Amino acid sequence: MSFRTAQIRLVSSHREVYEPCDDSFALVDALLSDRNNLIEHHPTLCMEVGSGSGYIITSLALMLGQEASGVHYIATDINPHAVRVTRETLEAHGVHSELITTDIASGLEKRLAGLVDVMVVNPPYVPTPEDEVGREGIASAWAGGENGRIVIDKILPIADNLLSDKGWLYVVTLTANNPSEICLQMRQKGYAARIVVQRSTEEESLHVIKFWRDFDTQVDLKEMAATNKTVPARVMESLVSQFPLSAFWRSGPQ
Ligand SMILES: C[S@@+](CC[C@H](N)C(=O)[O-])C[C@H]1O[C@@H](n2cnc3c(N)ncnc32)[C@H](O)[C@@H]1O
Repeated sequence: MSFRTAQIRLVSSHREVYEPCDDSFALVDALLSDRNNLIEHHPTLCMEVGSGSGYIITSLALMLGQEASGVHYIATDINPHAVRVTRETLEAHGVHSELITTDIASGLEKRLAGLVDVMVVNPPYVPTPEDEVGREGIASAWAGGENGRIVIDKILPIADNLLSDKGWLYVVTLTANNPSEICLQMRQKGYAARIVVQRSTEEESLHVIKFWRDFDTQVDLKEMAATNKTVPARVMESLVSQFPLSAFWRSGPQ
């Protein structure tokens, strides 16, 4: 069997598990469009947080190969049904990943710190009342609390801790999540960002953003610290120019 991405007909399912949807396809398309870079990147450890049906981690394993190419895969999900469904999807495609039922990467921090070369996340990003976040079952697939940012904001510092020096992070965001502000937050941790895929429908606009540690960014941060300044104007301009203006209209006070 040799597929470039997971086959929908082989993706397992369960009523409490998120099925591959537009956001899942956007993330796989982003990985496909960056496939040559990913192969040249020679990752040894790839991780997915929130694997759901397993469509993404299976696709990544099919794109980059397995033991023969020296890549190890780890996927987590807070929903135990999702972990079981991910296992079935991986098996149906003849690929393997270590699977862990946990909250983001809880219990893995020491073992994986500084080791993850590629991390992929399609998080729960839908703005919802806060008490819907982290509920059992399918609700945990989308409920993101205020601005859809509660889980995203927990994942980012964990990703920063787990990523290797050459680590890349791919995250799906929605306009309502204020992606430029997410980029700014990551900039302050020393990451550059690029939009790999953007998809718009009448209701929403999705961005798949890639983050990587950037030497220039770290110089900017040192300058900022030395001069007691906030984010330099040129950094702000480069972030803002990547996002459509609608991102700012929709996340504004109205
Ligand atoms: C939008 S779904 C994406 C599923 C799959 N990756 C895809 O793209 O089709 C988000 C997934 O994250 C999981 N999730 C939500 N909160 C989580 C947390 N705190 N830790 C780990 N996984 C979480 C959900 O159970 C769900 O499977």
